[in-house]
Amino acid sequence: MSDKRRILVTAALPYANGSIHLGHMLEYIQTDIWARFQRARGNEVWFAWADDAHGTPIMLHAEKKGVSPEQLIEDMNAEHQRDFADFGLSHDNFSSTHSARNRALVKRIWASLTDAGAVSTRTIEQYFDPERKMFLPDRFIRGNCPKCGAEDQYGDSCEVCGATYDPTELVDPRSVVSGATPVMKQTEHYFVTLESFRDSLKAWVRSGALQDEVANKLEEWFGEALRDWDVTRDAPYFGFPIPGTTDKYFYVWLDAPVGYLASFAEICEREGLDFEEWIRPDSPTEMHHFIGKDIIYFHCLFWPAMLEGARMRRPTGVYAHGFLTVNGAKMSKSRGTFIKARTWLDELHPDTLRYYFAAKLGSGLADIDLSLDDFRARVNADLVGKLVNIASRSAGFVHKFGDGKLAAELPDPALYQRFVDEHEAIAADFENRNYQLAIRRIMALADQANRYIDEHKPWVLAKEEGREAEVLAVCTQGINLFRAMMTWLAPVIPQVAATAAEFLDSPLDHFDSIQSPLLDHRINKFKPLLKRVEPEQLERVLQASRESLESRTPAPTKNSKQTEKKTVNDKASKPDSTSDIIEFPEFAKVDLRIARIAKAEEVEGADKLLRLELDLGGETRQVFAGIRGHYDPAELEGRLTVMVANLAPRKMRFGLSEGMVLAASEDGGRPYLLSPDSDATPGMKVK
Ligand code: 2FM
Ligand code: ZN
Repeated sequence: MSDKRRILVTAALPYANGSIHLGHMLEYIQTDIWARFQRARGNEVWFAWADDAHGTPIMLHAEKKGVSPEQLIEDMNAEHQRDFADFGLSHDNFSSTHSARNRALVKRIWASLTDAGAVSTRTIEQYFDPERKMFLPDRFIRGNCPKCGAEDQYGDSCEVCGATYDPTELVDPRSVVSGATPVMKQTEHYFVTLESFRDSLKAWVRSGALQDEVANKLEEWFGEALRDWDVTRDAPYFGFPIPGTTDKYFYVWLDAPVGYLASFAEICEREGLDFEEWIRPDSPTEMHHFIGKDIIYFHCLFWPAMLEGARMRRPTGVYAHGFLTVNGAKMSKSRGTFIKARTWLDELHPDTLRYYFAAKLGSGLADIDLSLDDFRARVNADLVGKLVNIASRSAGFVHKFGDGKLAAELPDPALYQRFVDEHEAIAADFENRNYQLAIRRIMALADQANRYIDEHKPWVLAKEEGREAEVLAVCTQGINLFRAMMTWLAPVIPQVAATAAEFLDSPLDHFDSIQSPLLDHRINKFKPLLKRVEPEQLERVLQASRESLESRTPAPTKNSKQTEKKTVNDKASKPDSTSDIIEFPEFAKVDLRIARIAKAEEVEGADKLLRLELDLGGETRQVFAGIRGHYDPAELEGRLTVMVANLAPRKMRFGLSEGMVLAASEDGGRPYLLSPDSDATPGMKVK
């Protein structure tokens, strides 16, 4: 019997209303490396995924662009596919959740869930936009925070104080779609009763399918009752209608994971595989999902519950990764670090990013930082300096002294054996998604290979009469060490590996082939494999990213209270496309006022502070300002300045500071107080 594993692997489905950025690519590269590695081990692997094409944001986005949602998702799908192909992703199918097959599969799963008694209905009350005539997801309602009063906050959470709440608690709510004041309206919704799957879910969570930290988190969630999952959205909605209804649709998160299977079903049809064999509960095949840590709830509770209810197999593994930061911070459009896949591809070799991500990815949920200076240093040192160098230094002599043919024996078989001895450890690292460890091992071997060449100095021997065979032997050794490393790295840097395979005239797609070295074998002329990364290329990437600033659209909603608040690492967040740009409503929240400095004095025990009494025209505020030593307090008295009047009061050692005066300064330089014209009136609002 063959011990070949049969593996279906997926990455999370990107929404079909936006471009692919490097945050997406982190996951797709992680998944692709694993898929390629499994193939290189001789396993049967199918990498299937799709665009996540449904939901309110996509419907509204299409409307705004003046196209049909079908047209929008088709265009996006083509764009996404181009990005993926150019990044060297090796998926077998990239489909769309808006497909006939997905529709049929959703229908089938829904029928099973209903038959199993896992569906209930009840009437709920939800905000409704009376102008646009639609129910509003939380993210499409804004208003004042019920906790801190901050204006213009989302319907589910406040960005100012961090409070989470129900949209009905918002003060002065309004619809983001039309601006109208929403009204409460009743509607009947379908729910999946998760509690009925508690026992089987618990067993699955401890089956080894999950990372320990994820399994622990789920245990915590099991500590409370599992809330019924609302899987209904009312018309108008872009999605699949719920059978037996005319104006109700499946919530996008119900049909999205089914999209994994529907995409795979397309492969089955194309390749003549038995889909039913893959999805039956006792299937001998494997199903692995790679996801971000923000969607654990969907993949570790909802999805396995659906599969259980549908009497289908559950995932063999669900692997969550952390978020991507760039230069140590959330991706930001104004800093130019919100980098689209295409912007990267326009300047840099895709394998450089693949390599860097691999060098940083472990098997856990830690966030990954793409530090651009470190990226350049690492790619240049490891790939260009260590790896490619071995081949480029050896190849010429093989042609010069062996007419392109490698020697018949290795001069240092023990060294080659030391490489082979690392083989299983490297494979285990890839299997466990601990790519950073695999890379560390491979690079330590690269150091040994370079040391070997340096010690044997073929370029010196080459100048000596009668030592041609020795030079050829040394270079045969070098080429074989290079080949072993390139074989292990092929899942990581497939395009470089493809060029290397041409040069070696030998495929690099099977891990075990390194067991026997390439001897007495003709190689082709060396081709440059990879160029150094230059600082200007990265500058241009940042510049181009800054130039493609876009306006804010509401983030696609997950619309599940239980889910949104329960990511494994609540502090980390997804890349924020707008973190440095503020929209006018946010700016308008700052209450700037003209103030007259009624009194200014030094504060005892604080060598940087002056205590100011500010006259706001009827109200006096005390403010501590870090301007001591730069202004004579006596001269400040009577002067007009600008203050932030709605800053929460701050208790300081010397008393309460009830606002802030505005001053300009260079980092570490002296402050310059802002001064309005002397005929402005204290208390006047600055707009
Ligand atoms: O969070 C997201 O970007 C979703 N589009 C992921 C869906 S993954 C799956 F369940 F389909
Ligand atoms: Zn608040």
